[in-house]
Amino acid sequence: MDKFIINGGRQLRGTVNISGAKNAAVAILPAVLLSGGVCVIENVPQIKDVTIDLKILAHLGADIRLLNKSAVRIDARRIRNVPIPYELARHIRASYYFLGALLAKFNHAKVSMPGGCDLGDRPIDQHIKCFKSLGAESVIEHGMVEISASSLVGTQVYFDKVTVGATINAMLASVKAQGLTILENAAKEPHIVDLANFLNSMGADIMGAGTDVIKIRGVKSMCETNYTIIPDQIEAGTYMVAAAATKGDVIIKGIIPKHLEPISSKLRKVGAQVVESDECVRVIGATEYERTNIKTMPHPGFPTDMQPQFAALLVLAKGTSILTEGIFDNRFRYVEELRRMGADISVDGKVAVIEGVERLTGAQVKAADLRAGAALMIAGLSASGTTQVEEIRHIERGYEDMDLKLKALGADIVKRKFPDVEVMARVG
Ligand code: EPU
Repeated sequence: MDKFIINGGRQLRGTVNISGAKNAAVAILPAVLLSGGVCVIENVPQIKDVTIDLKILAHLGADIRLLNKSAVRIDARRIRNVPIPYELARHIRASYYFLGALLAKFNHAKVSMPGGCDLGDRPIDQHIKCFKSLGAESVIEHGMVEISASSLVGTQVYFDKVTVGATINAMLASVKAQGLTILENAAKEPHIVDLANFLNSMGADIMGAGTDVIKIRGVKSMCETNYTIIPDQIEAGTYMVAAAATKGDVIIKGIIPKHLEPISSKLRKVGAQVVESDECVRVIGATEYERTNIKTMPHPGFPTDMQPQFAALLVLAKGTSILTEGIFDNRFRYVEELRRMGADISVDGKVAVIEGVERLTGAQVKAADLRAGAALMIAGLSASGTTQVEEIRHIERGYEDMDLKLKALGADIVKRKFPDVEVMARVG
């Protein structure tokens, strides 16, 4: 149980480099097994979710070598179709992408039900609907999902709701199916486009990714590729909000400004300055912030993955802000913790009402999930006094070296191992 200890109240200043996108990486890595050869993937973020994905690939027989901090060479020539057990799959949501990838490669997959952040009910009915529509049968027994088909045949699928996960799994499963698959009401997130570009670089024939209709013409075989993952727009957004909350001045580098539009636009609305250039964005904080309302929606709407971080800024804005969560049932698990720091927030179902306060004060708080953890980090940076953020394993699932990047921007932050071996030694 490691923790971050932050002495708040310092303005963040300087430049931060953004790592590769978590949610693109966790879709692209399982897809590598379709190559049947050797792929080099660059701009891979060094985060726990990626480590788990690589462990699953190794479990399936891939030979994995790290070429440098962010490049990995994956030899998928000896991939076997073996079940992916609970111990591996339970750590991450994206373990379910191995269902689509293995189904496409072997017409069969057996993977434990996925884990990931606890954000309320997260069914996988739309994934199963697509697999079935392609001609597969599915059984869920003893915590394992098993999908098999004698052959996969192109189909038309209308998703009942916009889902990133099912859109990705449908693309993976149909990439080698006979004929044409049409996905309607598909998700349009940047990582959907990145996965399509990656699959196309391996010889797939996918059109329309980034719109709500994706057409996939099945191909007989796929090949090796070298590919660079897009930057993480949520990591970038998190540093943008951290810069604003600490009234700092930060250049966020290595990003695609277009992916950040909903975040930049809300930051401007509350009073921060956001200056975009080719591959960076500069955020200059204001002395005080205006209230605003936010409703999270599928891309290009405001991303749910930035909702908790914005709450950490709006708790210090003038007046009443309303946050409406439009994607998940329970994404306010940070509220109780922000209250411990002096925030005034009430929650009714999927709506949080924030009454701005003058200041936050440091406290001992716990990250309930990845973005809840990011919100507490931002709150800790702007609060007066010391904040201890516990359960940082959630944060480390999705943010590469967050403590080091913040330190380089001038934050007073340390990562403390728990139990603290030095203190234990002194106590005897
Ligand atoms: N849903 C269904 N049935 C399904 C699939 C989804 O009802 O078969 C519902 C979900 O319960 C949810 C909504 O549809 O209410 C959207 O779910 P979606 O499938 O879009 O989300 P996901 O694939 O579970 C991914 C990201 C999340 C991100 C969401 C939305 C990964 C590994 N996870 O989750 O990332 O919040 O899309 O953009 O890509 C995070 O990074 O912190 C994170 C939680």
